[in-house]
Amino acid sequence: MKFFADTADIDDIKDLAATGLLDGVTTNPSLIAKSGRDFMEVTREICGITSGPVSAEVVALDHATMMKEAEVLRKIADNVCIKVPLTIDGLKTCKALTDDGTMVNVTLCFSANQALLAAKAGASFISPFVGRHDDNGVDGMELIADIHTIYSNYGFETEILVASVRHVTHVLQAALIGADVMTAPPKVIKQLFNHVLTDKGIEGFLKDWEATGQSIL
Ligand code: E4P
Repeated sequence: MKFFADTADIDDIKDLAATGLLDGVTTNPSLIAKSGRDFMEVTREICGITSGPVSAEVVALDHATMMKEAEVLRKIADNVCIKVPLTIDGLKTCKALTDDGTMVNVTLCFSANQALLAAKAGASFISPFVGRHDDNGVDGMELIADIHTIYSNYGFETEILVASVRHVTHVLQAALIGADVMTAPPKVIKQLFNHVLTDKGIEGFLKDWEATGQSIL
Protein backbone atom coordinates (compact mmCIF):
# COMPACT_ATOMS: atom_id res chain seq x y z
CA MET A 1 0.00 0.00 0.00
CA LYS A 2 1.33 3.43 -0.95
CA PHE A 3 1.56 6.15 1.72
CA PHE A 4 0.65 9.72 0.84
CA ALA A 5 0.97 12.57 3.35
CA ASP A 6 -2.17 14.65 3.69
CA THR A 7 -0.57 18.03 4.35
CA ALA A 8 0.98 21.14 2.81
CA ASP A 9 3.50 21.50 5.63
CA ILE A 10 6.96 21.42 4.01
CA ASP A 11 8.89 20.44 7.16
CA ASP A 12 6.58 17.48 7.78
CA ILE A 13 6.83 16.37 4.15
CA LYS A 14 10.65 16.58 4.19
CA ASP A 15 10.73 14.64 7.45
CA LEU A 16 8.58 11.83 6.03
CA ALA A 17 10.43 11.79 2.71
CA ALA A 18 13.64 11.11 4.65
CA THR A 19 12.17 7.84 5.97
CA GLY A 20 11.82 6.58 2.39
CA LEU A 21 8.18 5.76 3.07
CA LEU A 22 6.58 8.70 1.31
CA ASP A 23 4.95 7.85 -2.02
CA GLY A 24 3.13 11.13 -2.65
CA VAL A 25 1.24 14.04 -1.10
CA THR A 26 -2.37 15.20 -1.07
CA THR A 27 -3.44 18.77 -0.42
CA ASN A 28 -6.81 20.49 -0.41
CA PRO A 29 -7.86 24.14 -0.09
CA SER A 30 -8.17 23.82 3.71
CA LEU A 31 -4.64 22.41 4.03
CA ILE A 32 -3.26 25.18 1.77
CA ALA A 33 -5.01 27.77 3.95
CA LYS A 34 -3.55 26.11 7.08
CA SER A 35 -0.02 26.31 5.61
CA GLY A 36 -0.39 30.08 5.16
CA ARG A 37 1.61 29.74 1.92
CA ASP A 38 0.96 30.73 -1.69
CA PHE A 39 -0.79 27.79 -3.42
CA MET A 40 1.41 27.68 -6.52
CA GLU A 41 4.62 28.23 -4.61
CA VAL A 42 4.01 25.60 -1.93
CA THR A 43 2.77 23.05 -4.50
CA ARG A 44 5.94 23.57 -6.58
CA GLU A 45 8.06 23.07 -3.48
CA ILE A 46 6.21 19.85 -2.54
CA CYS A 47 6.63 18.51 -6.09
CA GLY A 48 10.37 18.98 -5.69
CA ILE A 49 10.49 16.91 -2.49
CA THR A 50 8.61 13.85 -3.71
CA SER A 51 8.62 12.36 -7.18
CA GLY A 52 5.23 10.75 -6.43
CA PRO A 53 1.84 12.28 -7.27
CA VAL A 54 1.05 15.59 -5.56
CA SER A 55 -2.68 16.36 -5.55
CA ALA A 56 -3.59 19.99 -6.16
CA GLU A 57 -7.29 20.78 -6.04
CA VAL A 58 -9.31 22.99 -8.38
CA VAL A 59 -11.75 25.38 -6.72
CA ALA A 60 -14.06 26.18 -9.64
CA LEU A 61 -17.43 24.44 -9.77
CA ASP A 62 -18.02 24.49 -13.54
CA HIS A 63 -16.24 22.33 -16.09
CA ALA A 64 -14.87 25.14 -18.28
CA THR A 65 -13.25 26.98 -15.36
CA MET A 66 -12.02 23.72 -13.81
CA MET A 67 -10.22 23.00 -17.10
CA LYS A 68 -8.61 26.46 -17.04
CA GLU A 69 -7.47 25.98 -13.43
CA ALA A 70 -6.16 22.50 -14.22
CA GLU A 71 -4.18 23.95 -17.12
CA VAL A 72 -2.41 26.30 -14.71
CA LEU A 73 -1.87 23.65 -12.04
CA ARG A 74 -0.52 20.93 -14.30
CA LYS A 75 2.21 23.28 -15.52
CA ILE A 76 3.67 23.39 -12.00
CA ALA A 77 5.43 20.01 -12.35
CA ASP A 78 5.11 16.65 -14.08
CA ASN A 79 4.01 14.94 -10.85
CA VAL A 80 1.02 17.22 -10.21
CA CYS A 81 -2.22 15.26 -9.94
CA ILE A 82 -5.31 17.40 -10.52
CA LYS A 83 -7.89 16.96 -7.78
CA VAL A 84 -11.54 17.47 -8.75
CA PRO A 85 -14.72 17.11 -6.69
CA LEU A 86 -17.13 14.27 -7.32
CA THR A 87 -19.75 16.27 -9.24
CA ILE A 88 -20.95 16.08 -12.83
CA ASP A 89 -18.62 18.93 -13.82
CA GLY A 90 -15.80 17.37 -11.81
CA LEU A 91 -16.15 14.07 -13.65
CA LYS A 92 -16.40 15.80 -17.05
CA THR A 93 -13.11 17.45 -16.16
CA CYS A 94 -11.69 14.13 -14.98
CA LYS A 95 -12.56 12.47 -18.31
CA ALA A 96 -11.07 15.30 -20.39
CA LEU A 97 -7.86 15.43 -18.36
CA THR A 98 -7.23 11.69 -18.14
CA ASP A 99 -7.95 11.28 -21.87
CA ASP A 100 -5.16 13.79 -22.30
CA GLY A 101 -2.75 11.81 -20.08
CA THR A 102 -3.04 13.94 -16.92
CA MET A 103 -3.35 12.27 -13.49
CA VAL A 104 -6.64 13.00 -11.74
CA ASN A 105 -7.69 12.39 -8.14
CA VAL A 106 -11.48 12.50 -7.67
CA THR A 107 -12.17 13.71 -4.17
CA LEU A 108 -15.08 13.97 -1.72
CA CYS A 109 -16.36 10.47 -2.48
CA PHE A 110 -18.89 9.19 0.04
CA SER A 111 -20.63 6.31 -1.78
CA ALA A 112 -19.66 3.23 -3.79
CA ASN A 113 -21.84 4.42 -6.68
CA GLN A 114 -19.90 7.68 -6.80
CA ALA A 115 -16.68 5.64 -6.91
CA LEU A 116 -18.10 3.62 -9.82
CA LEU A 117 -18.79 6.85 -11.72
CA ALA A 118 -15.26 8.12 -11.09
CA ALA A 119 -13.74 4.88 -12.39
CA LYS A 120 -15.91 5.07 -15.51
CA ALA A 121 -14.66 8.65 -15.98
CA GLY A 122 -11.09 7.29 -15.99
CA ALA A 123 -9.95 8.64 -12.62
CA SER A 124 -6.39 7.79 -11.64
CA PHE A 125 -7.38 7.88 -7.96
CA ILE A 126 -10.68 7.86 -6.09
CA SER A 127 -10.63 9.43 -2.62
CA PRO A 128 -13.32 8.04 -0.30
CA PHE A 129 -13.32 9.96 3.02
CA VAL A 130 -13.49 7.36 5.80
CA GLY A 131 -13.03 9.67 8.81
CA ARG A 132 -15.83 12.03 7.84
CA HIS A 133 -18.15 8.99 7.50
CA ASP A 134 -17.09 7.74 10.94
CA ASP A 135 -17.73 11.23 12.35
CA ASN A 136 -21.33 10.82 11.22
CA GLY A 137 -21.79 7.37 12.73
CA VAL A 138 -21.27 5.45 9.46
CA ASP A 139 -18.48 2.85 9.12
CA GLY A 140 -16.20 4.43 6.52
CA MET A 141 -14.27 1.20 6.03
CA GLU A 142 -17.37 -0.57 4.68
CA LEU A 143 -17.26 1.93 1.83
CA ILE A 144 -13.64 0.99 1.08
CA ALA A 145 -14.52 -2.71 1.04
CA ASP A 146 -17.48 -2.07 -1.31
CA ILE A 147 -15.39 0.01 -3.72
CA HIS A 148 -12.67 -2.65 -3.67
CA THR A 149 -15.23 -5.32 -4.61
CA ILE A 150 -16.73 -3.23 -7.41
CA TYR A 151 -13.37 -2.27 -8.90
CA SER A 152 -12.23 -5.92 -8.76
CA ASN A 153 -15.50 -7.12 -10.37
CA TYR A 154 -14.87 -4.98 -13.43
CA GLY A 155 -11.08 -4.70 -13.46
CA PHE A 156 -11.07 -0.90 -13.10
CA GLU A 157 -7.56 0.53 -12.85
CA THR A 158 -8.56 3.51 -10.72
CA GLU A 159 -6.56 3.34 -7.48
CA ILE A 160 -8.45 3.45 -4.19
CA LEU A 161 -6.92 6.27 -2.14
CA VAL A 162 -8.28 6.02 1.39
CA ALA A 163 -8.66 9.62 2.61
CA SER A 164 -9.71 11.40 5.78
CA VAL A 165 -7.69 8.88 7.77
CA ARG A 166 -7.87 9.68 11.46
CA HIS A 167 -5.91 6.92 13.23
CA VAL A 168 -3.61 3.94 12.76
CA THR A 169 -6.48 1.43 12.81
CA HIS A 170 -7.82 3.03 9.63
CA VAL A 171 -4.43 2.32 8.01
CA LEU A 172 -4.50 -1.32 9.14
CA GLN A 173 -8.08 -1.82 7.94
CA ALA A 174 -7.30 -0.21 4.57
CA ALA A 175 -4.30 -2.52 4.12
CA LEU A 176 -6.34 -5.60 5.07
CA ILE A 177 -8.96 -4.70 2.46
CA GLY A 178 -6.24 -4.19 -0.13
CA ALA A 179 -6.63 -0.45 -0.79
CA ASP A 180 -3.94 0.87 -3.15
CA VAL A 181 -3.08 4.05 -1.25
CA MET A 182 -3.87 5.80 2.00
CA THR A 183 -3.34 9.46 2.74
CA ALA A 184 -2.97 10.53 6.34
CA PRO A 185 -1.79 13.48 8.40
CA PRO A 186 1.98 13.16 9.18
CA LYS A 187 1.15 12.61 12.86
CA VAL A 188 -0.80 9.43 12.03
CA ILE A 189 1.95 8.13 9.71
CA LYS A 190 4.51 8.63 12.50
CA GLN A 191 2.26 6.83 14.99
CA LEU A 192 2.55 3.71 12.80
CA PHE A 193 6.12 3.29 14.07
CA ASN A 194 5.07 3.14 17.72
CA HIS A 195 4.72 0.10 19.92
CA VAL A 196 5.15 0.08 23.69
CA LEU A 197 7.02 -3.26 23.52
CA THR A 198 9.52 -1.79 21.04
CA ASP A 199 10.27 1.03 23.50
CA LYS A 200 10.45 -1.40 26.42
CA GLY A 201 12.70 -3.74 24.43
CA ILE A 202 15.16 -0.96 23.59
CA GLU A 203 15.22 0.11 27.22
CA GLY A 204 16.02 -3.44 28.39
CA PHE A 205 18.70 -4.05 25.76
CA LEU A 206 20.43 -0.74 26.52
CA LYS A 207 20.41 -1.46 30.26
CA ASP A 208 22.04 -4.87 29.72
CA TRP A 209 24.49 -3.42 27.20
CA GLU A 210 25.58 -0.73 29.65
CA ALA A 211 26.32 -3.43 32.22
CA THR A 212 28.83 -5.06 29.80
CA GLY A 213 30.92 -1.86 29.84
CA GLN A 214 31.53 -2.29 26.08
CA SER A 215 31.15 0.18 23.21
CA ILE A 216 30.78 -0.39 19.47
CA LEU A 217 32.60 2.79 18.39
C1 E4P B 1 -8.02 13.96 0.98
O1 E4P B 1 -7.34 14.07 -0.01
C2 E4P B 1 -8.35 15.06 1.89
O2 E4P B 1 -7.34 16.03 1.77
C3 E4P B 1 -8.34 14.66 3.35
O3 E4P B 1 -7.99 13.32 3.54
C4 E4P B 1 -9.52 15.13 4.11
O4 E4P B 1 -9.36 14.75 5.45
P1 E4P B 1 -10.20 15.41 6.64
O5 E4P B 1 -11.55 14.78 6.66
O6 E4P B 1 -9.41 15.05 7.86
O7 E4P B 1 -10.25 16.88 6.38
